[in-house]
Amino acid sequence: MKFLTCGSVDDGKSTLIGRMLYDARLAFSDQLREIEKDGKADYSLLLDGLLAEREQGITIDVAYRYFTTEKRSFVVADSPGHEQYTRNMAVGASFAELAVLLCDVRNGLKEQTYRHMRICRMMGIDCFILAVNKMDLANYRDTEFLSIEAEFKKFAENLEAGNITVIPVSAKEGENVTFRSERMPWYNGKTLLQTLEEADVTPRTGKGFVLPVQLVCRPNTDFRGFQGTVERGYAKIGDEVTVLPSGERAKINELFVGDEESRSVSAEQAVTVCLDRDVDISRGDVILREAELAVGNIFAASILWTDSAPLIPNREYFIKLGTQIAAATVTHIKHRLDVKTGDHIAAKTLERNEIGNCEMLANRRIVFDTFEKSKVLGGFILIDRVTNMTSACGMIRHPMRRADNLFYREADVTNEMRAAQKSQIPVTLWFTGLSGSGKSYVANALERRLYALGRHSVLLDGDNLRRGLNGDLGFTEIDRVENIRRVAEVAKLMNDAGLICLVAFISPYDRDREHARSIIGGNKFILVHISTPIDICEQRDVKGLYEKARSGKITNFTGVNAPYEIPPFPNVTIDTSVQNIEESVEILLQTINDITKNKKGELL
Ligand code: ADX
Repeated sequence: MKFLTCGSVDDGKSTLIGRMLYDARLAFSDQLREIEKDGKADYSLLLDGLLAEREQGITIDVAYRYFTTEKRSFVVADSPGHEQYTRNMAVGASFAELAVLLCDVRNGLKEQTYRHMRICRMMGIDCFILAVNKMDLANYRDTEFLSIEAEFKKFAENLEAGNITVIPVSAKEGENVTFRSERMPWYNGKTLLQTLEEADVTPRTGKGFVLPVQLVCRPNTDFRGFQGTVERGYAKIGDEVTVLPSGERAKINELFVGDEESRSVSAEQAVTVCLDRDVDISRGDVILREAELAVGNIFAASILWTDSAPLIPNREYFIKLGTQIAAATVTHIKHRLDVKTGDHIAAKTLERNEIGNCEMLANRRIVFDTFEKSKVLGGFILIDRVTNMTSACGMIRHPMRRADNLFYREADVTNEMRAAQKSQIPVTLWFTGLSGSGKSYVANALERRLYALGRHSVLLDGDNLRRGLNGDLGFTEIDRVENIRRVAEVAKLMNDAGLICLVAFISPYDRDREHARSIIGGNKFILVHISTPIDICEQRDVKGLYEKARSGKITNFTGVNAPYEIPPFPNVTIDTSVQNIEESVEILLQTINDITKNKKGELL
C-alpha cells in the first residue's frame, strides 16, 4: 500500500513514522544504534537521514521508504510540509492510495491541514488517517481530541472523502502508534499501524482494456509493435481493438509482456502489442477494447497552480497527459477554491498554490478520461513554453461538448488558391518593441514598398486595433495576453486570405509571441525585433506617453512600470537609431525573400 504523510516537522511527522518503523523493528540495526545513542531515543533520526539526502539532491523532492509487516507491504512518501512545497506534496499524493495527516493536539487543525487534504482529494486519494499527535502534552485527555475529530469529520464530509479514521497518538511515547495506549482508555479504535494494515484502498477504474501507446517499436521492417503500460483491464490474442483518436480497428495477433511472448496481458503490465493489419499509430494514441474514453479538445479541469508566475487565461502552455503532448490554454477560470471552506471565489488569475476550476482548450484532439475514472488519462501537467518547468498539475473533471458540433469546413477556394491568385507567399511579419521604437514607422515603410512591388498586404497596428476589435482590453498582463492572441488569430485569417500581414504590437512577453507563432504557424511567422534603446524611445516620446508614465499618470507602461522581454531568437533585429528607414526596409525585403524562397520547411 502506498501512502503519504502530510504535516510539518513541528507536528512530529518524522518522529511518528520513525516510531512506527522502530516499534515494528523495521529499521536497520545501525540506524537503531544511532537512535538509542546516549540512552535517549530520537525516532525522527530514522527519517532525517532521508531529509539530508533530500537537501543535497535538489531533484529528490519526495523521499520514499519501504517497509513490510506481517500483513502488508508499504511504500511511504514523505514530502516536506512547508507551504512552498505544495508541488512536492501533489507529486507524493499523485502516487498514494492513502494519506496520513498530522496535527498537534494543542494547535488543532491548521490552514495547512485543509490545504493538504484538499490537494490529496484532488489527486484522487479517498482514504485518510488524521493522527492527532502530542497527546502526552495534553495529559491524554479527550477534550481537545474530540473537538478536532468533529471538525475534521465535517470537513471530510464536505470533500466527499469516503474513508476517515482519526487517532489520538503520542509519537514520542509510542501511544497508539504500533501498540494500543493504556493511557487513553476513552479511545477504543485501532492503532495507526493497524489502520494502515487494514485500510481498504481498492482503486476504482473504468471498464474495458486501455493501453496508452508510449513507443512504436520497429526493430526491422517485418515487426511493428506498440508498447506501453496497460492502464486497465485485460486483452488476449484475437481481440478486436480500436485505436483513438483515429477510430481505426484491428485484431491483436501477437502479445509480449516484457520480452516474453504471451497469450494475454493485463493491467499495470509493460507490454508490446502487434496488430493484424497496418494501422497508423504513434506515441500518444490509445489502443482500447470496450472502454469509454473521450476524444476532444475542450474540457473542464481542476488545476493546482505551482508556478511563481501566475496562471493567465489564454496564455499557451504544453499539456502532458499520459503519453500525449499538445499545446493548450486555460480559456476561462470559473472560480478559485477557498481551501478551507471549499467556497467558490471569483478569480482572474491563479497564484502559486491556488486551486481553481477551469475550462481548457487544446490545439488538437486528445484522448482522455475523467480523473475520477483514470489517474493516467485524467491527470495532466502544464509545462511553461519558455522555461520548460512544470507550472501546474490538473485533473480533468468532464469533457465539454461545445466543439462536438463544429466541423472544420474546407472551402472550394483554398488558401493556396487565394495566395496563388496574388502570386505571392503569405507570411506574417511580427514587429515587437517598445513604444516609440519605430515599429509602426518601419512596418508602414515596408508596406509602401510592398505595395509598389505589386504585393497584397495588410497592416495591423496596436493603436488602431485597440479602438475596435480590442477596445475592451487594457494594459494589464492579462489583457495584453488576450490582445496578442486575438491579433494572432486575425493575422492567421489574413494569411489564409493570401495577404502578407504586418503586425506592429509591443507584444512584450516572449510566451505570447511564441503563442502567436503557434497560431499563425512556424513556417509563416517572421519575428522582427525593433530594438531601439529605451532612452532614445523616451527622448522621441512622440505621443508624450513616457512623460505621463514617469509622472505616474499612466500605470503598466512598458519599459517604465511594466516589463519588456527581449526576444531571444528574432529573425531580424533593427535599431531605428542606427539603421535608417531605407536600410531597414531593404533588410526586411531580403529576409522575406530568403525565407519564402525555400519555404518548404519550418522557418525556425
Ligand atoms: S501590447 O503590449 O498589448 O502589445 P499594443 O501594441 O497593443 O500593446 O498597444 C501599445 C500602444 O498603446 C502604445 O503604442 C501606446 O500608444 C498605447 N498605450 C497606452 N497605454 C499604454 C501602456 N500602459 N503601455 C504601453 N502602451 C500603451
